[in-house]
Amino acid sequence: MKVSQKDSEKIVWDPMRSPSGNPLKIPGSQTRTLPKLMVWLILVVSVTYVVYTLKLVSTSRACNDEPFSTHHRLSTLISTNDSVKLALNRTGIEHIVFGIAASAKLWDQRKNYIKLWYKPKQMRGVVWLDNKVSTGNDDGLLPPIKISGNTSQFPYKNRQGHRSAIRISRIVSETLRLGLKNVRWFVMGDDDTVFITENLVRVLRKYDHNQYYYIGSLSESHLQNIYFSYGMAYGGGGFAISYPLAKALYKMQDRCIHRYPGLYGSDDRMQACMAELGVPLTKELGFHQYDVYGNLFGLLAAHPVAPLVSLHHLDVVEPIFPNVTRVQALQRLMIPMKLDSAGLLQQSICYDKAKTWTISVSWGFAVQIFRGVFSPREMEMPSRTFLNWYRRADYTAYAFNTRPVSRNPCQKPFVFYLTKAKLGESSNETVTEYIRHRVPYPSCKWKMPDPAKIDTVVVYKKPDPHLWDRSPRRNCCRVKEASKKGSMVVDVGVCREGEISGVN
Ligand SMILES: *[C@@H]1O[C@H](CO)[C@@H](O)[C@H](O)[C@H]1NC(C)=O
Ligand SMILES: *[C@@H]1O[C@H](CO)[C@@H](O)[C@H](O)[C@H]1NC(C)=O
Ligand SMILES: *[C@@H]1O[C@H](CO)[C@@H](O)[C@H](O)[C@H]1NC(C)=O
Ligand SMILES: *[C@@H]1O[C@H](CO)[C@@H](O)[C@H](O)[C@H]1NC(C)=O
Ligand SMILES: *[C@@H]1O[C@H](CO)[C@@H](O)[C@H](O)[C@H]1NC(C)=O
Repeated sequence: MKVSQKDSEKIVWDPMRSPSGNPLKIPGSQTRTLPKLMVWLILVVSVTYVVYTLKLVSTSRACNDEPFSTHHRLSTLISTNDSVKLALNRTGIEHIVFGIAASAKLWDQRKNYIKLWYKPKQMRGVVWLDNKVSTGNDDGLLPPIKISGNTSQFPYKNRQGHRSAIRISRIVSETLRLGLKNVRWFVMGDDDTVFITENLVRVLRKYDHNQYYYIGSLSESHLQNIYFSYGMAYGGGGFAISYPLAKALYKMQDRCIHRYPGLYGSDDRMQACMAELGVPLTKELGFHQYDVYGNLFGLLAAHPVAPLVSLHHLDVVEPIFPNVTRVQALQRLMIPMKLDSAGLLQQSICYDKAKTWTISVSWGFAVQIFRGVFSPREMEMPSRTFLNWYRRADYTAYAFNTRPVSRNPCQKPFVFYLTKAKLGESSNETVTEYIRHRVPYPSCKWKMPDPAKIDTVVVYKKPDPHLWDRSPRRNCCRVKEASKKGSMVVDVGVCREGEISGVN
């Protein structure tokens, strides 16, 4: 990977300190003027609240944790218990309807991405096509297909874009019009979007579906975000719209689309209507548009501390595992996903102190060993293994920090890719195995053990379905004594009391 820019060129920001002064005015002794009655009222309300909360806490343990839970059975058992009912009435995959934008021309190839994640028995969704396609023998594995409504009455005046954007931006409205029952969220995606649906549920569950929500993520490309918007959910990464918001959108969308003939795509049209409704984007970092070229490795090896929800543009980038097809590579990622979806691609950073190596684990995907000690603040930056959306290696191109793949020939990482994933013998731990990717390395004169001596890394990790119920925090990893020569054993899990990623 060529990196043309010097990383030492740094932009020095003038720290714009907020104007100091103006301390908040806190009304001082207002309570004294309040009548005693008011104080009593507050007391009574607080006591009621405490009693209620205690009750909720004591009962919420009964709730089931898996996104695909069997809570129907449970809820009928204890259907008289209101607080339990509240806790069990959480968003599940059954409350989501997918609206997938596809085209007849690419359908035969792209449908293979949908088959990777869509489960017809558990999920609801519709693929919206521009034209009819011939039936295939895999139709049972895919969502039902519908043909989008005629949009020729809408104006489209963008010279670079294509008017299919109008059809695609109307998918939420067209899906709503089908009148499906018990829907809380409409989730849009492209035919080349792969969803990690359990994590999608984990993310949506945090929000009240009775309110207006527009949830998604930006582009990786700073310029794309400037041209389009830093307040827009990029369609390929997928985005979610709560039911009442979809209803409000449905009532105004066609008129709204008429007002923006000059826009390029479907997602900017969507955002234009959201702006008219006054609903901002709620950003969730696990939706990935991936407006990049080349190798996604750097991004996948340093995922933000947020659940992985989607991957996109998988046709544009190289397969995520070497020497296999794109679909095969994604199939491999689905194996650890089934074992511990919450932890998929989560990074942990540790050190082999004796050998002075840095180890970075991207659980279920890859392990890297570096000669020398890199700080976590360096390791949690994605390395630039990819090119920007204009096919250039430009470190100013992204809406986040990146780092060069290596600053010194000795520091070229030794990469181990996932080959196997299973539950351990006692079934309370996952065992994932990573094999070294054999590529040539520049010679290195540093007097420390050579990571090329390691062929296999084995990672032990307990499944942690509650990971995202807690405040976001990276897991810790620990290098263990390996019993076999040429192998390394790493333990990944919740950081212990006082444990940090550091050498001393
Ligand atoms: C609700 O269920 C919990 C146990 O699951 C029980 O302790 C509590 O008394 C129940 N509350 C009511 C009102 O039935
Ligand atoms: C669950 O929530 C929905 C809407 O949010 C409501 O209509 C339904 O009655 C609730 N069900 C239970 C069992 O509380
Ligand atoms: C769409 O509608 C226009 C007239 O409004 C008609 O000319 C055209 O044939 C229609 N297209 C399709 C695919 O039905
Ligand atoms: C790539 O895959 C082919 C067959 O699938 C195999 O023969 C070959 O050894 C592989 N190459 C590497 C570098 O793993
Ligand atoms: C898994 O269970 C076995 C016994 O069933 C126990 O010895 C081991 O410590 C457990 N491991 C973890 C990570 O909980």
